[in-house]
Amino acid sequence: MTPPLPSVLITRRMPSTSLTELRKVCLVDLHPGTDDLPPDVFRARLAGKQGLICMFNDRVDSAAIDAGDALRVIATVAVGFDNIDIEAAKSRGIVVTNTPDILTGATAEFTWALILSVTRRISEADRAVRSGSWSGWTFDFMCGRELRGKQLGIIGAGRIGRAVAAVAPAFGMHAVFAARSGEGIEGNVLSLDELLLTSDVVSLHVPLTSNTRHLINRRTLVRMKRSACLINTSRGPVIDEAALAWALEERLIAGAGLDVYEDEPRVHPTLLTREEVCLTPHIGSATRETRTEMATLAVRNVIEVLGGRPPVTPIC
Ligand code: GLV
Repeated sequence: MTPPLPSVLITRRMPSTSLTELRKVCLVDLHPGTDDLPPDVFRARLAGKQGLICMFNDRVDSAAIDAGDALRVIATVAVGFDNIDIEAAKSRGIVVTNTPDILTGATAEFTWALILSVTRRISEADRAVRSGSWSGWTFDFMCGRELRGKQLGIIGAGRIGRAVAAVAPAFGMHAVFAARSGEGIEGNVLSLDELLLTSDVVSLHVPLTSNTRHLINRRTLVRMKRSACLINTSRGPVIDEAALAWALEERLIAGAGLDVYEDEPRVHPTLLTREEVCLTPHIGSATRETRTEMATLAVRNVIEVLGGRPPVTPIC
């Protein structure tokens, strides 16, 4: 008798092409929506599943991992994995995988889109045109700040931080890093305080951990130049949003470009009112090419592990 196919829970709609191979070797329980599965439903549907394909916003805590009594692999369709209790998975011998590298280019491009949007006031200018408040060309209307000759401070020297830095010379910018020791970058490494004191654009590229939660807070925001802007395409809780709202209201910094938030999809009400802030809905990796590759890689990881082979991109 042939053994039954392993079954895999997928928590969101994914590109159908990425599922073709999976359906050949697994039974797929796909939540077809774009909404979160409520925690009790998530746990109930995990029971008996050998595989889980989840997103960065599914909370895979120890209760969920316990509910997945047959789990052998958890594949997140994201590079960040702060939503998964890695220790709980490890203690059960469950393989956890993510989708690094393939989203580096898209996220770095998007970081530059935010940098340009904030410094050249693009979303603000767009609102002015649409609302009819633009009454014609004047010499100083919507003047922004130029990047040429300025310093880009990158916090976190992983793949995405480095990819953002690589573009800096094309805009005539000089990139510096603040990073944990051992991240292997040469030159241009400053302490966090030095970076904040001297950079014109500060861009966050750290994973969310207990060390980076609220790394940007009242104490660190007051270090920044009044003319500087803050960009975040990493994880929302790296910034204390209430402190950022305060710093903007007090004009301690000049602007911010945010793609991620402390409590998505909610955004601090003050941030919603600030013209000097560009807000985007967690779309750093959202290109058709990258999202399809991410889904395909997550599926590949599941197929490999359930087939008894090593995963392509393991976390543990
Ligand atoms: C998205 O936020 C990711 O971590 O890939």
